[in-house]
Amino acid sequence: MIDQLNALRAEVDAAELATPEAIEAFRVAWLGRKGQMKDLLAQFKDVPGPEKREVGQALNALKTRIEERVAAASAAGPSVELPAWGDATRPAGGIPVGTHHPLAVVRREIVGIFERLGFAVSEGPEIEDDWHVFSGLNFPPEHPARDMQDTFFVGRDPDWLLRTHTSSVQVREMEAHEPPMRLIMPGRVFRNEAISARAHCMFHQIEGLYIDEGVSFADLKQTLLQFAQAFFGPDTRIRLRPSYFPFTEPSAEVDVYWGLKTEVDKRITKGTGWLEILGCGMVDPAVLEASGIDSTKYSGFAFGMGIERITMLRYQIGDLRAFFENDLRFLEQFAGEA
Ligand code: PHE
Repeated sequence: MIDQLNALRAEVDAAELATPEAIEAFRVAWLGRKGQMKDLLAQFKDVPGPEKREVGQALNALKTRIEERVAAASAAGPSVELPAWGDATRPAGGIPVGTHHPLAVVRREIVGIFERLGFAVSEGPEIEDDWHVFSGLNFPPEHPARDMQDTFFVGRDPDWLLRTHTSSVQVREMEAHEPPMRLIMPGRVFRNEAISARAHCMFHQIEGLYIDEGVSFADLKQTLLQFAQAFFGPDTRIRLRPSYFPFTEPSAEVDVYWGLKTEVDKRITKGTGWLEILGCGMVDPAVLEASGIDSTKYSGFAFGMGIERITMLRYQIGDLRAFFENDLRFLEQFAGEA
């Protein structure tokens, strides 16, 4: 049997393995379920005792050699002529994939927190009329926000403008639906401001609105506390400061306690430790009535926050312009943020 194995070894060495088909045929012929190795192993049990050792070693060596040839030929790949443009079977590795924009990451997280509190998502148009942005929200005709200085008008008609806040979506929703309603409304807004590290003519807000029977200021405060603790951490403290908006009464601005541990903390909180994150209030009964909601039966709260501002806090970004310059060195730092 040793002679037979030596002859087979020569056969294995001489086999042509130039194509994938040839390699596969070789593998099946030698190692397959009905292959040569199977027969040889079957013959092995008839080998006389004294020869068993030598024959066994030769059998193993043959099997190893067959496996080596298959592995080497597979790794070498087919020896075919490649077209001039290269090898179409090569894996297409290393194509860079995009990352989520930091504003999208934060918007999604904020919306997700309010969805878990039972708020549904709604959106409205960016080009609006005066009613939905100002008049329906109780802005008097001479209010400075209506001024050309602050508002972009579309063409010459003063009735058409780019919305300056997402509160316009509140009006659309109140007109279209009966309470109860609990909505979270993300969107892009526009103001005629000079572009700087702290201001831009285009930015993003998230508006909240909850209207039902018996909604109180305590509900507003508790909802915002839940949000702040979900977003900034479970020990986060908030405070409400009296403020003014034409469409809420009473109105407040909400601060989170940021701390005063570092020089940067002192600078960004102006030495107080507190940072403003949003405006809010109880929807003014006049606003409910203007949208056809019975203010003797229903009450509600509303709030609005700037996504850029909150994103700058979360990632310690010092210049708002970085969000809109699309510099990959900036954007790629958010790879992996979901
Ligand atoms: N619309 C206000 C702003 O842009 C924010 C706000 C929304 C305040 C809802 C109160 C209630 O500044």
